[in-house]
Amino acid sequence: MNILVVGGGGREHALIWKLRQSPRVEKLWCAPGNGGVAADAECLPVEAGDVDGLVALAERIQPDLTVVGPEIALANGLTDAFRARNWPIVGPSQQAAQLEASKIFSKEFLLRHEIPTAKMYGAFDSAPEALRVLDQVSWPLVIKADGLCAGKGVCLAANPAEAKDFIEGTLLRDQLGPGGRKILLEETLAGDELSFILVTDGHSYAPLVPTRDHKRVFDGNLGPNTGGMGAYSTDDLLTAPMRQTILSTIVEPTLQGLADDNIRYQGFLYIGLMLTPDGPKVLEFNCRLGDPETQAIVARMDFDLAEVLADVAADRLIPEKLKWKPGASVCVVLVSGGYPGRFATGKVIHGLTGVSDLTGVMAFVAGAALHPDHSLATSGGRVLGITAAAPTLQAALRHVYDAAHKVHFDGVHYRKDIGAHDQQPLAAKG
Ligand code: AMP
Ligand code: GLY
Repeated sequence: MNILVVGGGGREHALIWKLRQSPRVEKLWCAPGNGGVAADAECLPVEAGDVDGLVALAERIQPDLTVVGPEIALANGLTDAFRARNWPIVGPSQQAAQLEASKIFSKEFLLRHEIPTAKMYGAFDSAPEALRVLDQVSWPLVIKADGLCAGKGVCLAANPAEAKDFIEGTLLRDQLGPGGRKILLEETLAGDELSFILVTDGHSYAPLVPTRDHKRVFDGNLGPNTGGMGAYSTDDLLTAPMRQTILSTIVEPTLQGLADDNIRYQGFLYIGLMLTPDGPKVLEFNCRLGDPETQAIVARMDFDLAEVLADVAADRLIPEKLKWKPGASVCVVLVSGGYPGRFATGKVIHGLTGVSDLTGVMAFVAGAALHPDHSLATSGGRVLGITAAAPTLQAALRHVYDAAHKVHFDGVHYRKDIGAHDQQPLAAKG
């Protein structure tokens, strides 16, 4: 099989690392890829959101399978364009991708199918109307921009002044652009967050191992939200009854709801959950794999990913094929100093050969570019995801942090407490 992976982050590098292990795979391309991916796949300079460019590229290279990483490709209709030409591709349609691309669409879907989620106070495109309901809500209040906003679209407002700031910034001053021209006000949920990702061909589904992301930039969950500073997965992250509750109250009603709405969903579905005292509730849907969750997930895959993804594209997923290494895995993300705010780029990355000398530790590259002298230098906020699997979480953490200490670039920052936040299994409470 010759496979094209669309995207250019750590998630795509992790997919490529796993796909390369398949005896079925001959050739891997990545569009656009990055300086680190270039070691494992041929990188082709077409952006993930450029549907026409990717169609022209696939026309030329004729991949046997295309796997889509980022939401922008899905929201722009890449899979529809490929399916119209009968080209095998893994990823939901543009219509299905609305589950991620429009928070209002996704909230209406959840309410229509009675899937547990945060209570909605209303959806607005007018600031005065949104401000009028502020005296009827509980605090803190969650305000979400409807559209894709590169991770900046959610505000947890502690009081009416903060809420007013965000509402006026989005609806009056257009600070988030088109994604922020409608907003949703909802109740704040308290509990433990969990990333529950599954793969489906539209008929059968298979859950991946559950993971937890760490969104805040500093240890102790302090500082602003990021795209994700690290993730981990363990066998005992979920109790068996909690897992069953998630499947029966969230996953199955969601897949049934899609079928009832005549939305054919094929690909990965990421369900962001809050495990509240009243049971699991949906925070968000993403129509793709998570980043950095994917890095922690591929480290535990004990099956042929190329075979399973070809099955998904051909509508014949066999869930039993997905087997997992017992134990745990961890991904720690090394970021540029200043991220998620302003940061410098072009800093040479040292010490990566030290990581590749450690067996079982992978350095998945996200924001880095190859310089003409073949050195790898930073080019983005999230630079590297150091990842390992091991029989226990403690061992995986030791491997990952030993490796992370060997890597250096000017301004490097990473959290020292990935996986340490809560090691109790997430059980059904109440
Ligand atoms: P979203 O883009 O919807 O995933 O939101 C980003 C982050 O905001 C989530 O991972 C949560 O940490 C937080 N969040 C979103 N909705 C809620 C909510 N209703 N209650 C509490 N936290 C939330
Ligand atoms: N790590 C969160 C996401 O991929 O959306």
